[in-house]
Amino acid sequence: MRIIGLMSGTSADGIDAALCEIEGAPPQITARIIKALTFPYPEGFQQWIFDCCEPNLTGVDEICRLNVELGNLFAQAAQHTIEAAELTAAEIDLIGSHGQTIWHHVEENGHVHSTMQISEAAVIAEQTGVTTVSNFRPRDIAAGGQGAPLTAYADWLLLRHPDHWRAVQNIGGIANVTFLPPLSDTESTPIAFDTGPGNILIDAAINYMTGGEQPYDVDGSIASAGTVDEQWVRGRLFHPYFRRKPPKTTGREVFNQKMAVNLVDQGRRRKMSDHDIIAGMTAVTARSISAAYERFAPAPIGEVVIGGGGARNRTLMRMLREDLAPTPVLTHEEVGIDSDFKEALAFALLAHETWHHRPGTLAALTGAQHESVLGQITPGSNYAALIRKTWCG
Ligand SMILES: Nc1ncnc2c1ncn2[C@@H]1O[C@H](COP(=O)(O)OP(=O)(O)O)[C@@H](O)[C@H]1O
Ligand SMILES: [Mg+2]
Repeated sequence: MRIIGLMSGTSADGIDAALCEIEGAPPQITARIIKALTFPYPEGFQQWIFDCCEPNLTGVDEICRLNVELGNLFAQAAQHTIEAAELTAAEIDLIGSHGQTIWHHVEENGHVHSTMQISEAAVIAEQTGVTTVSNFRPRDIAAGGQGAPLTAYADWLLLRHPDHWRAVQNIGGIANVTFLPPLSDTESTPIAFDTGPGNILIDAAINYMTGGEQPYDVDGSIASAGTVDEQWVRGRLFHPYFRRKPPKTTGREVFNQKMAVNLVDQGRRRKMSDHDIIAGMTAVTARSISAAYERFAPAPIGEVVIGGGGARNRTLMRMLREDLAPTPVLTHEEVGIDSDFKEALAFALLAHETWHHRPGTLAALTGAQHESVLGQITPGSNYAALIRKTWCG
């Protein structure tokens, strides 16, 4: 099937779209990206999203409007990707849309109560004509799970190594890991959880320091010019989230602009330069990831595969390599998947599984009581034809 995966992460930097060819059924399933593009949000849009993530800033009216405006942009992203692949909408079977998370409600004890991803699927299906699967997370939460990380199921299906444990680490706004047992191990189950902040604190601090001029530390160049204050970094690693046992998830509700601003002000009071503060935050991010491996990896990890925008931050990558040494650190490209589009591909894969009425998780990955068929299906104009094609030969 040809399926477009659409994703906008915690960074809200833009919409990742991956037009994929997906064939087979687990465990023999293949997924290949035909064309993938990122569509940065128009001027001011990212701030609108961030405002809608703040309960004290925005009302239900703005969220209602944002839901539809995001639907428009997601539909356009799908259409432009179809054109770029020199295909027509009639040649696309499904869209799998993650939407944009604006709230992920984790209770004190780590139980996830509820979650909200928006980007109206009715708009996407209406404008593209393509049947759209969306809203993947709530069903897993209804079954007692964390509703995340959902991309871990794609890791499980596509990225197990023949004979050693792999850690698949995504560094988006939030960072998450999947510890994958080797194919030769038929007993072990994978473990997946959010390790904590990915780029989110660095982005927010840069944004604050530059008065909104710069959205992130390009290539990690600011961090590379600073010196890491080890004592300060160690003090930042006492956050209770880091010690909580998996399965666990987090988000902008915990690691956010406010925390970043506090850290910057704290660092400045300590007479750290802005470069040193960014170097320190980058070290906290790297260290929180490596500490999660030390605490929670169920077996020695043979190699680490990194993806997400954080893979482009050279200083973060250097620090991670140092912290994880001697374990080799690879990029997704080295295992055959584009680093920037693994998550979009994962939602295409989840849409494929939902359409075939198969689960999109393993209970072990999210802590759910059982695995579930995920998402909601919004029929597009291809719906009846797609049903005939899938089930009537
Ligand atoms: N050249 C770069 N140098 C440093 N960081 C980068 C670079 N390109 C992207 N990033 C980081 O990656 C983030 C986007 O990553 P992404 O994987 O899309 O995250 P999300 O899934 O949260 O949207 C940006 O906000 C930025 O922090
Ligand atoms: Mg992104």
